[in-house]
Amino acid sequence: MEGNREGMIIPRHVALILDGNGRWAKKRGLPRTMGHKEGCVTVEKTVEIAARMGIEYLTVYGFSTENWKRSAEEVGALMQLFRYYMVRLLKVASANNVRVRMIGDRSRFDRDIIEGINRLESGTRDNTGLTFVIAVNYGGRDEITRAVRRLAVDCMSGAVKEDAVTEELVASYLDTADMPDPDLLIRTSGEIRLSNYLLWQLAYTEIYVTDCLWPDFNKEELEKAILAYNKRDRRYGGVK
Ligand code: IPE
Ligand code: IPE
Ligand code: MG
Repeated sequence: MEGNREGMIIPRHVALILDGNGRWAKKRGLPRTMGHKEGCVTVEKTVEIAARMGIEYLTVYGFSTENWKRSAEEVGALMQLFRYYMVRLLKVASANNVRVRMIGDRSRFDRDIIEGINRLESGTRDNTGLTFVIAVNYGGRDEITRAVRRLAVDCMSGAVKEDAVTEELVASYLDTADMPDPDLLIRTSGEIRLSNYLLWQLAYTEIYVTDCLWPDFNKEELEKAILAYNKRDRRYGGVK
């Protein structure tokens, strides 16, 4: 359940759309890739902050199924950053008792990246603190489509009967199986849309949008979001 610290309810699961790296760079007359580099530093810091705050799950959107549309130069730079930060993340995670998990379709990545992801997951599997989930080559519709495909195979083989298909069963076929739904979604850089993020899981999540560009995000910004979350009245369709 949700933890209580200094009178504030700490959301159990925080989902993040880290947006605005490009705009951050543009404002400074720098190439977009410099924004991504700075954004990676912010991700690393945010993992440590979230772990210390007692957040149980932090899920960040790192690369969407639609981001392949960007220039080969930008996609290539993002892959290089991913390679570099995967190695660093293994150390950061180990030092902070953080378990790392990736969601999304990793099969489209180069072999060394897939191996790095596998190493990161298996190397941190026994950590008991924050679960840091990275959504890479992730799209909500793609995730649901992959889940339905696997469910169809199980139905056709007779392993799953039609009556057994419940919301819980569908959820168990998603990449986020065994994880609680996000309590709070934070999107940086002002855009008020989901951009194909966690479409199933965000059904009753509280949404918070800040104009802060992702590389400028920090502990104060996270606390502001959690404070706003504390003022929300979660009714789940009922009456209070
Ligand atoms: C978010 O920053 C990072 C990724 C989507 C990979 P953007 O690159 O989308 O930055 P803006 O939205 O162009 O400012
Ligand atoms: C969403 O940001 C994806 C990630 C943060 C990885 P985008 O910048 O790709 O989203 P749009 O294009 O503004 O919807
Ligand atoms: Mg963007």
